[in-house]
Amino acid sequence: MSTSPNDDTPRIRRANAIASQFCYTDDDIRRCSTEFLRELRLGLQQKRPSMCQIPTYLTRAATGHEKGLAIGVDLGGTNLRVCSVELHGDSTSTVLQSQARVPPELMVAKTSRELFSYIAKQIRDFLLDCHPSSIKAAQDDSSHSFFALGFAFSFPVYQSGFDIPDAVGQDVCKSLQGEIDLLCLPVKITALVNDAAGTIMSRAYALPPAHTRPSIGAIFGTGTNGVYLQNLSEITKPLDGDYDKTTGSMFINTEWGSFDNHLSVLPITPYDVELNEHSVNPQNQMFEKRVSGMFLGELLRLAILDLDSDESAKWFRASGVGCGFDSSTPLHRRWAVDSSILSVAELDNSESLLTLRNKIHLSLGIRKEYISEEDARAVKIIARAIGTRAARLAGMAIGSVIIQSQGFDQTSNGEVVEETTVDVAVDGSVVEHYPGFEQHMRGSLRALEKIGGERECRINIGHAKDGSGVGAGVIALLAAQQKATVLS
Ligand code: BGC
Repeated sequence: MSTSPNDDTPRIRRANAIASQFCYTDDDIRRCSTEFLRELRLGLQQKRPSMCQIPTYLTRAATGHEKGLAIGVDLGGTNLRVCSVELHGDSTSTVLQSQARVPPELMVAKTSRELFSYIAKQIRDFLLDCHPSSIKAAQDDSSHSFFALGFAFSFPVYQSGFDIPDAVGQDVCKSLQGEIDLLCLPVKITALVNDAAGTIMSRAYALPPAHTRPSIGAIFGTGTNGVYLQNLSEITKPLDGDYDKTTGSMFINTEWGSFDNHLSVLPITPYDVELNEHSVNPQNQMFEKRVSGMFLGELLRLAILDLDSDESAKWFRASGVGCGFDSSTPLHRRWAVDSSILSVAELDNSESLLTLRNKIHLSLGIRKEYISEEDARAVKIIARAIGTRAARLAGMAIGSVIIQSQGFDQTSNGEVVEETTVDVAVDGSVVEHYPGFEQHMRGSLRALEKIGGERECRINIGHAKDGSGVGAGVIALLAAQQKATVLS
């Protein structure tokens, strides 16, 4: 954004002062990463650390040679996706899918049964539409074959309350399988999948054979999380299930949303404090509350309200009298502002900021005639600060797991050799739609001593479209194959 003489006004000065509270320097990034690595390692030793470090029992990335047909179901924060994935064995696949917005009342239903029954019905409708003969065969009882289903269950609110996440995960599968059986569908759940793991596998399958396989998967969407390839020798907590030990590594689900819940290194502004106090899970998912789409709009709303608390910097009074909002506007309602406004603010670089002004009208509920160019400039300054901090924290997390997974070190004939590239699969609305998110993440990667400028250039960050749904299908097939390996 170019500067103009109009930048030196009480409102813009106040916006800059608010924005400066979101500044997170390279030194902060380095301190944060040291603590992140400490928590990652602790999670490999203890059963209940702050970052769960959940074993996925997946020990290798897809090669692209896998074949078969499976179903992926992805229950995210907002949508339910059902898809079938046919892997052709040559990195290509045929994907059919349906998507529905989960009725909000089901997300807060007293019993999970209503939610699982809804999901089972969506699977039935999908099969009726896309694979009708399979339903018919099941009804005629003329076939005993069934679809393997991978269930991506990434429910931030419930997740933070889990005591033993993998045990609860099994309940989740049992509950859904029960509802599927009630409808007599030819479907067996073979894997419970985290969406970040799904992201890795869907990208791994689709990459050309000669390409480095992804060793990291990260989601920056409604929630945030990362999965990475960990050397087995460092996992000292018990691994209860069966798995293929021949690779010497396993993908670990960090659940990094709960990094630094005790706030020893994460940045803290008054807006972070207020957001946390009014959240459904205070003191939990503290990293996620600074990084993911579910929270960035609310942080912006709180910061804008603070701007208005300064008498000399009053907002949205373009006409000079009165103001453009009342207490019922989204600006005054908690959680009413979604994070897409941050992307619009970053994208609109016009002089008049007309697109952003329109978005302010739609998102904050302020009457158009009250939104001046200066108001929009102030929103842009604060939005950029919040988005930049989120992306820098995201880069810190990715860099730390690359360091922990020794991503650049590969053992060949007993010797450690430097790998040329590290591949990171990413998915989620924030990383996909927020302009410059990757560039800010890369700034953090360069700031980390063990990565630096030279290695940062050798980190591929690739988007895995619909990683969770398709990835869930790939994992359902891999799980079946892996089982065969273990048993043989
Ligand atoms: C959940 C993770 C999930 C992430 C991204 C977080 O809130 O705890 O399990 O992977 O959101 O969807």
